[in-house]
Amino acid sequence: MKSKLSNIKKSKYFLDNNHCVGIPTETVYGLAANAYSNTATNKIFKLKNRPKKNPLIVHYYKINDLKKDCEINEIFKILYKKFCPGPLTFVLKLKKNNKISKNVTNGKNSLAVRFPKNKLTRKLLSILKYPLAAPSANISTGISPVSKNDVLEEFGKKLKFILDGGSSNIGLESTIINLINKPKILRLGGIERSKINKIFKKELKYSHIDKKNSVPGQSKLHYSPGIPVKLNVSKPKKHEAFILIKKRKKTYKNYFYLSKTKNLKQAAKNLYKILRLIKNKRYKSISVEKIPNTSFGEAINDRLKRASIK
Ligand code: TXA
Ligand code: MG
Repeated sequence: MKSKLSNIKKSKYFLDNNHCVGIPTETVYGLAANAYSNTATNKIFKLKNRPKKNPLIVHYYKINDLKKDCEINEIFKILYKKFCPGPLTFVLKLKKNNKISKNVTNGKNSLAVRFPKNKLTRKLLSILKYPLAAPSANISTGISPVSKNDVLEEFGKKLKFILDGGSSNIGLESTIINLINKPKILRLGGIERSKINKIFKKELKYSHIDKKNSVPGQSKLHYSPGIPVKLNVSKPKKHEAFILIKKRKKTYKNYFYLSKTKNLKQAAKNLYKILRLIKNKRYKSISVEKIPNTSFGEAINDRLKRASIK
């Protein structure tokens, strides 16, 4: 525990000095910086090679901290009680006197916020005097990292410090819900849609292109291993990697299993790990068998679809 504590202190030291730090979360690792600082948040965009028009998610420790920057409403409180800390991101209205850096929001009057569950990151947030802006810790359009090593692979020595919190439990980004006006899901992720619909007692609208609150870059290539990805394939070509949802009796060295038993939660957890492994094994293309579009399968298919855009 002692070394963990000093790693948290090290993270604080770098963050206080306007540097970026890799942080573990239950979804994926984040590339974190002081959300109130222009200098610090600028570095996130530079390191990731991320277009400035793509706004960041801000990570808070507790509601009282969030209230300084954002307006909250009754629906927020209900969802917070049920799912936080956890893999749910809320898009809320910014207060006029908020302290969030303009880099984070691209000058918009809304902010995406979440309360991550990972213990080390929560401890870190509890001792900081500011919230953390943190997109996934990968170079733009690439595969999200789910371990310290993945983050290292993305940024190498360019990143001052990575807080090691083991591998991410969920392995897919948070679900994003817009609570300004009519609640609407903007990104499928760590919380199944059915669980959220249950709270609202109806099917919420889902579209990742939010017309009113348009976020550029949401329909382009993303989560990509940098090689062609083909979906719904039943028979792969001889030399390509083949991703399957369930173990086959007859197996080959180019077969990669998201789960042994078609368990979609486990498949979600393994998705980025397997995409990265295939990329590192230098395969030239990937075929994926049909994945059921239920439960976490929806989010998996969403990511694979974006990875397969040419
Ligand atoms: O699980 C996660 O959410 C991870 C961990 C690190 O917390 N973070 C993450 O961040 O996935 P990122 O930057 O890779 O994805 C954030 C998404 C982007 O698609 C961005 O366009 C959207 O959130 N977003 C950010 N601010 C928004 C806003 N004000 N309105 C609508 N969408 C927003
Ligand atoms: Mg990302």
